[in-house]
Amino acid sequence: MQSSHHYLMCAPNYFEVSYIINPWMEGNINQTCLEKACDQWQRLRDLVEQRAEVSLVIPQPGLPDMPFTANAGLIVRNHAVLSRFRHAERQKEEEFFADWFINNHYDVIRMPSKIPFEGAGDALFDAHRQVLWMGYGNRTSPVSHTYLSELLDLQVLSLCLTDARFFHLDTCFCPLSNGYVLYYPQAFDESAQQLIAEQVPEEKRIVVAEPDALNFACNAINIGSLVILSQASAELKRQLAEAEFEVVESDMSEFRKAGGSAKCLTLQLQ
Ligand code: ARG
Repeated sequence: MQSSHHYLMCAPNYFEVSYIINPWMEGNINQTCLEKACDQWQRLRDLVEQRAEVSLVIPQPGLPDMPFTANAGLIVRNHAVLSRFRHAERQKEEEFFADWFINNHYDVIRMPSKIPFEGAGDALFDAHRQVLWMGYGNRTSPVSHTYLSELLDLQVLSLCLTDARFFHLDTCFCPLSNGYVLYYPQAFDESAQQLIAEQVPEEKRIVVAEPDALNFACNAINIGSLVILSQASAELKRQLAEAEFEVVESDMSEFRKAGGSAKCLTLQLQ
C-alpha cells in the first residue's frame, strides 16, 4: 500500500527465548511456539499493511530478538541512529540493521562507544509536541539523550524508568495522535511522572492500570486514529474510544514471553 506511514519489521523465523535479559524471559527458555509466533506476527503485519507500508529486514539465525525492530535504531528524517545494545546477546544485530539502513539510503549515525542506546524502544517522537521522549534506567544511557538532542536538534524529555518489567520506554509509554499519551505512571520515578504531568494536560493523559500494563497495552502502534495492541481491558477500550481512537487487538502472547509486544515488533521509518 502506498502511504505516508512506513514501518520496518523482521519475520520471526528464528524467534525463541534462549537467554534472559529481562524479567519476562525468566522461565520462558524454550517455551515459545514458533508456529504460533509466526501466525501472530503475520496477523500484525497484515493489520499494519492495511494502513501503512511495511519493509522487511532479513532475520538471522542465532539472533532470536531481531523481530523487535523497534530496537534497531531511531529514525529521524533521513538519519538512522543505530542502536548500541546494552547486552552482548543482542549486539550482533547491530550490523544487520546497519546494513539495512545503509542499503536503504539512510545516513547512519553511530553512538559513541560505551553509550548504550536501544533505538525506538527508548526514544519516542511525539509529533504533536515535536519533542523526543526518551527513557533511561535499564537499557539506554542518559548520556545518549544529551548526545541525540544536540545531534538531531530536538528537544528531549528524559524519563527515568524504575520497574525492571518495563525496561524500555515503549513498554509503558506511548504518545498518540492529537496530543494524547497512553502510559503506566508506576513504571516511572517521581520526577518523570511530574514531567509528563507538566507536558501533557490531564484530559490528554490516558492512564493504564497494572493489569493492562502487564498485557503490554502501552506497547501500541498508533496510525492516525487506529491503535493496534495485544490486549486491552473494557475500561481501557472505553477510555480510548472516548478519545476517538479505534482499537484493534492482535494477540502477541508468544512475544510477551520475550518481553515484547505489538509496537516493538515495528520500527517507524516515516
Ligand atoms: N527480548 C527483548 C529484549 O529484552 C525484548 C525487546 C522488546 N523491545 C522493546 N522495544 N520493548 O531486548
